Amino acid sequence: MRRLIIPLILIVTGCTNHKGTSTPSINELTELAMNEGGEISILAQKTLGSQLKKSISDNGVTSAVQFCNLAAYPILDTLKIAPNAIIKRASLRVRNQKDEPSDVERAILEQYALSLENDGDLNPVVEVINEKQVLYAKPILLDSPLCLNCHGQAGSQVTSETLKSIQELYPNDNALNHKMGDLRGIWSITFDISELTNYLKNIK
Ligand code: HEC
Repeated sequence: MRRLIIPLILIVTGCTNHKGTSTPSINELTELAMNEGGEISILAQKTLGSQLKKSISDNGVTSAVQFCNLAAYPILDTLKIAPNAIIKRASLRVRNQKDEPSDVERAILEQYALSLENDGDLNPVVEVINEKQVLYAKPILLDSPLCLNCHGQAGSQVTSETLKSIQELYPNDNALNHKMGDLRGIWSITFDISELTNYLKNIK
């Protein structure tokens, strides 16, 4: 991942130098993206998690399959510092094709998968992805037996009724047969550098 960061950092610091000394440094931008990304992903996770639990207890697992779409929740309309942030999930084994990773997300996912195998670092990361955007990423682990209802062993943990409903909605599903502790994906939050910069300039 380091290979990717260095040339891009040069681009960004290169730009900032032309704009004068009050322009936030790359470290300040990264720190803000790290804090904001952390808060947003916690909020998103909580909202999604509680909606999912409610939906399962109200209607059962099979009906809840239809409620698991992040896009269904206007969770993040409350973004203040970075209203244009793009919040998504990405995975190496997707259920919904829209969660297919970009090249940068794939590299991050592969790094987390490797870390998980080696008992390594699962901390969030912030990467500059181009002159305009930084990306915050944090792993999503399959960390609750609840998840196995829809991502576990097909035919046993995932009942045939639930399986049918998943297959109808997601004919190319690749997110079954996971076990507890697996890497399920990442939260991926892309910030506009200009929005972070404006915020930092205003509080300075
Ligand atoms: C009721 C069934 C159900 C349960 C329980 C469930 N999921 Fe999912 N999960 C889905 C469906 C359906 C999708 C596809 C959502 C969409 O269309 O955006 C999905 C998508 C995801 C994604 C996005 C990547 C992808 O494959 O498209 C992640 C990450 C994820 N689930 C993690 C979890 C975790 C972690 C848990 C346990 C806390 C969990 N899920 C529990 C049904 C479920």
